[in-house]
Amino acid sequence: MKIVVASDHGGYEMKEAIRRHLSEKGFEVLDAGTYSEESASYVEFSQRAADKIVDGTCDRGIVVCGTGIGVSMVANKNPGVRCALCTDSFMAEMARHHNDANMLALGGRILAIPYALMLVDLFLSEPYDGGRHDARLEQIADRERRTFCV
Ligand code: RB5
Repeated sequence: MKIVVASDHGGYEMKEAIRRHLSEKGFEVLDAGTYSEESASYVEFSQRAADKIVDGTCDRGIVVCGTGIGVSMVANKNPGVRCALCTDSFMAEMARHHNDANMLALGGRILAIPYALMLVDLFLSEPYDGGRHDARLEQIADRERRTFCV
């Protein structure tokens, strides 16, 4: 599984911790920036990560800003991206089991890093349940086709 990570300055420290954590676990990680704590746009960097999901370069994406709100808003503008903003383990589990989320958004100013890493692990290990949820994901895809003409 290839994973893209990205953040603005508000999520930089957490993004770096996630990048190291995933590399240590043997995942192939693409770091789409930002690369310092200098002020940066969450729009630009979340979009860089979403691009890698849309074009198929990466299987999963993890984006971090101060709250996780901005990066999730941007990622979810992209067809085929299902980005879940999670603040606890139940949300991370459900994001996979029910929503088949392919991107995770986290708040660098919201969560302690060890807790965020635990959510990352859940996001990468929990399965999608399929079944009745397929029809809902198809409804989302239908909304995307109408909005983006894809
Ligand atoms: C940057 O200060 C902050 O606005 C950003 O990281 C994020 O929280 C936006 O949603």
